Amino acid sequence: MSRPTPLAISWLKRALRHEFGAVHQALLQSAVAERLGDSDLAEERATQAAEELHHARRFAVALAATGAGIDDGPPPGLPIGQTVPEILQAALATEERAVKLYREAARACAPAAPLGVLFTEIGGEELAHLEELTRRLGRYSAFRHGTTRGPSRPIPTRS
Ligand SMILES: [Fe+2]
Repeated sequence: MSRPTPLAISWLKRALRHEFGAVHQALLQSAVAERLGDSDLAEERATQAAEELHHARRFAVALAATGAGIDDGPPPGLPIGQTVPEILQAALATEERAVKLYREAARACAPAAPLGVLFTEIGGEELAHLEELTRRLGRYSAFRHGTTRGPSRPIPTRS
């Protein structure tokens, strides 16, 4: 395998920082969603944090394999949100950035090269996250505007 270029290494570093930011964001969003009483969103965000951590590990392993230093400073502080729509919008923006970042990275590293394949693969997973979040935001908006029924609630009983 040919040695990764400094350009490819810089894309890996950017990707790793992005993933650490996404882990941090999703984990904190899970906690905020729990506080808001939205346990479904809390669970989804916690699962997302684990998936972003897996991405971070794959990029970290690829970066370490290049022999380049892997300690590249703290992750970016991404917005968390304090309401359900704010959480969803912030998460969507992160996934949009990831999809764009990894498309550019795959092109820059040559799509058929091992690193190009890695960026394309993880970019595909980010796109799936983006689509799921878009659906979730659509359901939430429809519920808010009364065009769909919300989660069923237990019928109150007289005591
Ligand atoms: Fe990711």
